[in-house]
Amino acid sequence: ASPNIVVVGWSCMDMISYVPALPAAGETLAGSRFSLGYGGKGANQAVQAAKLGSRVAMVTKVGDDLHGNSTIRNFEAHGVAISHVSRGPPGVSHGVAPITVDQSSGENSIVIVLGAGGLLSPEDVRKAQPAFAEAGRPPGGVLLAQLEVPLETTLEALSLARAADLTTVLNTAPAPSQGLPDALWPLVDIVVANEPELAALAAAPTATNADVEAAAAVLLARGARSVLVTLGPRGCALFNASEAPVFVSAPRVVAPRDTTGAGDAFLGAFAHHLSSGAAIKTALRRANECAAASVEREGTQSSYESAASLAA
Ligand code: RIB
Ligand code: NA
Repeated sequence: ASPNIVVVGWSCMDMISYVPALPAAGETLAGSRFSLGYGGKGANQAVQAAKLGSRVAMVTKVGDDLHGNSTIRNFEAHGVAISHVSRGPPGVSHGVAPITVDQSSGENSIVIVLGAGGLLSPEDVRKAQPAFAEAGRPPGGVLLAQLEVPLETTLEALSLARAADLTTVLNTAPAPSQGLPDALWPLVDIVVANEPELAALAAAPTATNADVEAAAAVLLARGARSVLVTLGPRGCALFNASEAPVFVSAPRVVAPRDTTGAGDAFLGAFAHHLSSGAAIKTALRRANECAAASVEREGTQSSYESAASLAA
């Protein structure tokens, strides 16, 4: 079946240690547990959308090694199409993300070592053009892109998606260390940023709702069609030039256990509902619910809701 969502991004192994507190510089700390899981923002978003029932095509590069092989099997297990998953050269490892999760708060800190996934090139994206064309044929096709792979690769994905009539969604994570090029913004239908990312991109504060609206207006003025700001436990807010802002609150999480990948659960679920033709408020509410559910369980992809878990 042809895809309704194309994801261009990074895939890796998450190496998660659960610790009593995040370690300080120079500190040696005993963790209580370790787990290995599948991660990378692109892969996480693809898997969340597929778990909810979307047909997803993944464009990524995996290592020519054991972790690369098991990542491909994980995509297959979730029904994510792998025709455009390529392999890096021999000797370049699959990407890894050592993660520490504070057991008292569920907060994390993450190191990413890109490995093969960092070699995903604009040429790799062009080879995946048939997937863009298929997803763009019926209305409702969505591209999901992030900032973990090289910027020129993300730019190529946005231009091809625009040409194929997909709704382009750019998640500005991880926060770029430099600003993004002017040419990028007009290619984006929906920018999805958390508060620190928005503050960095707009070079403006995001302390209050009015600040957030003003900062979002900076990105709209650069040419983005709309800006969706994720506000953690406070939910999310959508801004565009012609309509009043839409604030959608999130369900309360009583006992947060692991926030790793909650943003990706939000994006994957949002893309799923958007491409299924849901009203925007409904898509945002469902995305908040999936993100909140993921925070209540340990792990990244393994903590995501599926069509089956939602029905139960
Ligand atoms: O957003 C969470 C993800 O960020 C983790 O899975 C980790 O792999 C990093 O990419
Ligand atoms: Na989780």
